[in-house]
Amino acid sequence: MTFVPRNAAGDKRPDAPKIALPSGLMRRAVLLVFVLVACRGSKHPAPEPIKRDPHSFSEPSRVSVRHVGLDLTVDFDQRVLHGTAQLALARHDRSANLVLDVDGLAIASVRDCATHAALVFQHAPKKPVLGQALSIALAPATACVEIAYRTGPDASALLWVEPAGTVGKKHPMLFTQSQAIRARSWIPLQDTPGVRFTYDATIHIPDGLWAVMSATNPQSPPADHVWRFHMAQPIPSYLMALAVGELGFRALGPRTGVYAEPAMLDAAANEFVEVEAMMKTAEQLYGPYRWDRYDLLVLPPSFPYGGMENPRLTFLTPTVITGDRTLVSLIAHELAHSWSGNLVTNSTWSDFWLNEGFTTYVERRIMEALRGREAADILWYLGRKDLEQAFAKSGADRDTRLALELTADRDPDDVPSDAAYEKGALLLRTLEQAFGRTAFDAFLRRRFDRRAFQSTDTAAFETDLRSDLMARLPGKWSERALAAWIHEPGLPPSTPATTSRRVAELEAIATDFAKNASTFSTDGWQTLEWVIFLRSLPADIAPARLRTLDERHHLTASPNAEIAMYWLPLLVRADARDAAPTVERYLAHVGRRRMITPLYEAMVDKGEPWRTLAKKTFERAKPLYHPIVRDSIAKLVGR
Ligand code: BES
Ligand code: ZN
Repeated sequence: MTFVPRNAAGDKRPDAPKIALPSGLMRRAVLLVFVLVACRGSKHPAPEPIKRDPHSFSEPSRVSVRHVGLDLTVDFDQRVLHGTAQLALARHDRSANLVLDVDGLAIASVRDCATHAALVFQHAPKKPVLGQALSIALAPATACVEIAYRTGPDASALLWVEPAGTVGKKHPMLFTQSQAIRARSWIPLQDTPGVRFTYDATIHIPDGLWAVMSATNPQSPPADHVWRFHMAQPIPSYLMALAVGELGFRALGPRTGVYAEPAMLDAAANEFVEVEAMMKTAEQLYGPYRWDRYDLLVLPPSFPYGGMENPRLTFLTPTVITGDRTLVSLIAHELAHSWSGNLVTNSTWSDFWLNEGFTTYVERRIMEALRGREAADILWYLGRKDLEQAFAKSGADRDTRLALELTADRDPDDVPSDAAYEKGALLLRTLEQAFGRTAFDAFLRRRFDRRAFQSTDTAAFETDLRSDLMARLPGKWSERALAAWIHEPGLPPSTPATTSRRVAELEAIATDFAKNASTFSTDGWQTLEWVIFLRSLPADIAPARLRTLDERHHLTASPNAEIAMYWLPLLVRADARDAAPTVERYLAHVGRRRMITPLYEAMVDKGEPWRTLAKKTFERAKPLYHPIVRDSIAKLVGR
């Protein structure tokens, strides 16, 4: 175990006034202030134990990055970013080199920001999964280094979208996805969630496009065409984010708004009307929102996730826009990360459940407050179904524990994560039931306040629980139960039930339909009703039944990707060959990993001709997919 001084966040007011950052001179002045603060901080380190991160080469206990200043040009023709990153440092061990994580970056030079003297740097041999360590020899007085670099051709954080992959079809787009360990493919950084820094950025892009970041964002293009950003709250590297494309902005409320391609703005603004209310709800439950604004960015369907909680600007899949506002729990989820994850952060990816389990729990509490108990119960039910399906596949696998011990040879993105999300959330629900809602809510709020802008691990959570809730209300919860939930595989037998009246009704309809082809009314059915119904059909449902269903309800023709995600695998399993063109079209359009993986799996499992179709479709669709998705589907289809 190593000791890292308290984050710059420790003595920073989260709601500190924002600094407008115009000229290069101003940028340098701000950098100087950060360097001074960092140096002052290093004299009085308040040690906080942090586990070594197996997924980073950095040694933040010796030198840590406190502020990042980017100046990058986005070159769509070459598909590279190039420019400089200035890193302001806190030096705890004056004899130590600065060790950074890089993956595929071409480094042109490293200089001392103040003296411009060249600094000697060296790459360690490339490792699978991790990339390379970049070691920089610092001069005695070096407080900031400036690295000139360009990104490599296969930067795994970047997706370059052709105009054809956008709604407008005129302009290309670029977006980043840094979580978990991909920031190093576009910025040389200490790429570990155990280190936090503030940042500012100047981004040069072609005329006619907009740039947005996980930072203060302009709501209209700057007069001088130079896009400037500032992030005043310290964040971990996986929350660095940039997107460039033909975008517009629409306000949703005083603190909220949405960025999207102009043709999508109306639909997006309509789908997300509740976001301002959602923020207020979350604040009532867990304390002030500490990031000032909360905006959304709707990306093309090739975005690999449902959502990504980039601070101040959640990145979103367009498949969430169904017109019926039934999938906005995804927004509740990403908003919830403003507390669990972005404010209180897992210190390594082994404790990922601290980010996602807490967030899934908070998401459902927000939805319950907003839409009522029944709506939340449906989310709990669907989550439980995902969890049980995943556990049935993996057995009593090591990855079904909450506290993992990941090693450097495993990419965190390839580790099954259902336990982190759903078992983690169920643990918190169980604790809520054991201690009572009032006491448990107060505990969570205290934890968010006490650990704000810090990185933390499972051991610290266990300590918090013991010294706070378990000490205040003895006898409600046992050490034995705690150990079972956190350190043992599978679900403890005491897991509370997740049932809902609506789900029971829909399950009964599905069972009856599968048996008797009975007709049923779908009045008032929205996306989630269809999802529950389809997921309740027996795995071996007769192909003729599916045909009947399609004749009556036109599911194959539905543009709703969330419905297609459950409907199309049923057709493949039933060997419905005439569905092949729809399957192909879907896979060549949607790039969200969770929405295409089950369909590819069904095709590969079914054998010929589906297997070949899966390979063929993947070959064709692969340029549309994000590198993350490209890799995992390539493994699945076997090439
Ligand atoms: N932070 C995650 C996405 C993520 C996790 C990206 C791990 C890279 C590595 C995000 O908050 C998330 O959980 N997204 C889910 C949303 C859903 C659970 C509501 C998704 O994309 O499906
Ligand atoms: Zn999440």
